[in-house]
Amino acid sequence: MKAGFIGLGIMGSRMAANLLKKGHSLTVFNRTRARAGELLAGGAQWAASPAALAGNGNGNVEVLFTMLAHPEAVREAALGADGFLQHLPSGALWVDCSSVNPSFSRDMAAAAKSCGVHFVDAPVSGSKIPAAEGKLIFWVGGEEMDLTKCRPLLECMGNKIVHMGKSGMGAAMKMVVNQLLGSTMAAFAESMVLGEALGLDRKVLFESLLGTPITAPFLASKRAKMETGDYEADFPLRWVHKDLQLVSVSAYEAGVAMPLGHATKEIYALAIRAGLGTADFSAVYDYLGRKREDK
Ligand SMILES: NC(=O)c1ccc[n+]([C@@H]2O[C@H](COP(=O)([O-])OP(=O)(O)OC[C@H]3O[C@@H](n4cnc5c(N)ncnc54)[C@H](OP(=O)(O)O)[C@@H]3O)[C@@H](O)[C@H]2O)c1
Repeated sequence: MKAGFIGLGIMGSRMAANLLKKGHSLTVFNRTRARAGELLAGGAQWAASPAALAGNGNGNVEVLFTMLAHPEAVREAALGADGFLQHLPSGALWVDCSSVNPSFSRDMAAAAKSCGVHFVDAPVSGSKIPAAEGKLIFWVGGEEMDLTKCRPLLECMGNKIVHMGKSGMGAAMKMVVNQLLGSTMAAFAESMVLGEALGLDRKVLFESLLGTPITAPFLASKRAKMETGDYEADFPLRWVHKDLQLVSVSAYEAGVAMPLGHATKEIYALAIRAGLGTADFSAVYDYLGRKREDK
């Protein structure tokens, strides 16, 4: 199948590589071209803009993926001056894998429909390593027929595909997941900081907490970063903050209160202000552990 991929960051570059590996014809675009280097060396075609990708001389793409940082970047790629939506052939399918809020996804579904393009929201769970290994989970919102069309491509990049319902429901599930992910990480970091401040040994704390019923399994994968202080990003902290902001927007629209989510969001905001935005989100431990000057 002729696929297009826009957004070649930590996640998108690895997802696109798996499409290429499985023999799909692939055209790519990224704001920063340098990030496409390995894909181009591996046989992908470069498009000079999202518009060019949608209707390039290489043959029109049948399924176009976006894996971009936030709703603003998705909107620009789709509907901006050089956006792809006006240029995709009628009947093409746009699969947005970016983590965005459900009402934004529904807006994009409507914009796509007005251009004769099909749309599914298919955000993912799983980070850098599952993305590289083709073991992501896709939370899909949209028509069954459209999921059927893109399923063989999703199966190159993930090993679990869950149809959550109509447009926006994949994004809704992603909001639920990342609310839990961001809050759990911050709660664990805060508990570790407390334990150490009370004189407990860090190694003993890790060994006493990880693998027990009170900690989430993903926290074990953050231990090395927390122990070494090397927070090279699997999941950049600034995107967790972004997701908690989108959770906040979604909660407002749905009329529910999110007291824990909002408090957690502000912890990540302060960590960004302290210079940790591009670090892995487990660096919230580094931020919370900074000692008071007067102690
Ligand atoms: N990393 C994870 O563990 C993980 C897991 C699940 C979901 N996600 C979600 O996946 C998406 C991508 O995240 P990532 O981890 O791959 O982050 P990343 O490495 O920072 O990549 C972000 C991508 O968005 C592009 N971008 C950012 N701002 C842009 C703008 N203003 N205009 C155009 N393009 C822009 C970047 O282009 P440049 O290369 O030019 O900067 C890059 O392609 C996000 O929605 C994130 O929340 C991430």
